[in-house]
Amino acid sequence: MKNKFYEIKKKKNKSKIVCLTAYSKNIAQIIDNHCDIVLVGDSLGSVLYNYKSTRSVTLDVMIEHSKSVKMGIKKSLMVVDMPHNTYRDTTEALKNAKKMISKTKCDAVKLEGGNKVINIIKHLIKNKIQVQGHLGILPQSQRGKFKVKGKKRLEKIKILKDAKLLEKAGVFSIVLECVDTSLAKTITQELKIPTIGIGASSHCDGQVLVTDDLIGLNKINARFVKKYTNISKQINSAIIKFKNEVKQNKFPKKKHSY
Ligand code: KIV
Repeated sequence: MKNKFYEIKKKKNKSKIVCLTAYSKNIAQIIDNHCDIVLVGDSLGSVLYNYKSTRSVTLDVMIEHSKSVKMGIKKSLMVVDMPHNTYRDTTEALKNAKKMISKTKCDAVKLEGGNKVINIIKHLIKNKIQVQGHLGILPQSQRGKFKVKGKKRLEKIKILKDAKLLEKAGVFSIVLECVDTSLAKTITQELKIPTIGIGASSHCDGQVLVTDDLIGLNKINARFVKKYTNISKQINSAIIKFKNEVKQNKFPKKKHSY
């Protein structure tokens, strides 16, 4: 049987790649059946911990969440974000990526950036670590409001150049975050490896969303998010029923007691 990376790459121009985030076992178990890639994103910093940015997320926090996610995964390829300040040079990156992989048994790590981190990515790949790239909006290095990337000519040229550098370095795919539609189309057409878009149009080879956003658990109003359900409402009505039954002494019944 060919490996998971081969299966993902083979999907290019054939079938769309489905990717979602998970931060814990219970969600991972549900999405694993339907995803090609499960990403333990450092978006957990804002989604779960209310951090202003992903820059405060630590390696240890990512490792603990990833260990939980791993327990829920049977078939998907598992990618984990290397958090901010864990890959400032080749030695630090290799040490931390090895730690991440040995502790969590994930399949690959994701690093943000192009030319700036290319030597680090090359070093990881030379040491047999599978890497996913991430271009466009780079939450770890960006301050202030996030704006679409690649509309301006120079920015477009740079991002396309970065994508080609990442491909040449050997990443197995690239996440394009909030990249202008026509640039996402060009990158996807010009690369042999798959692109995974988030706010980067349907031209990408696959799509990723933060699961908490699409199920309505995380309060976010971004253009690129589609809420497929409002799970918060369902949780709320279940909790109200529980509360009322407790107050009216209807729960627990005999069958719930020992
Ligand atoms: O951290 C994350 O969840 C991500 C996705 C948005 C791609 O990087």
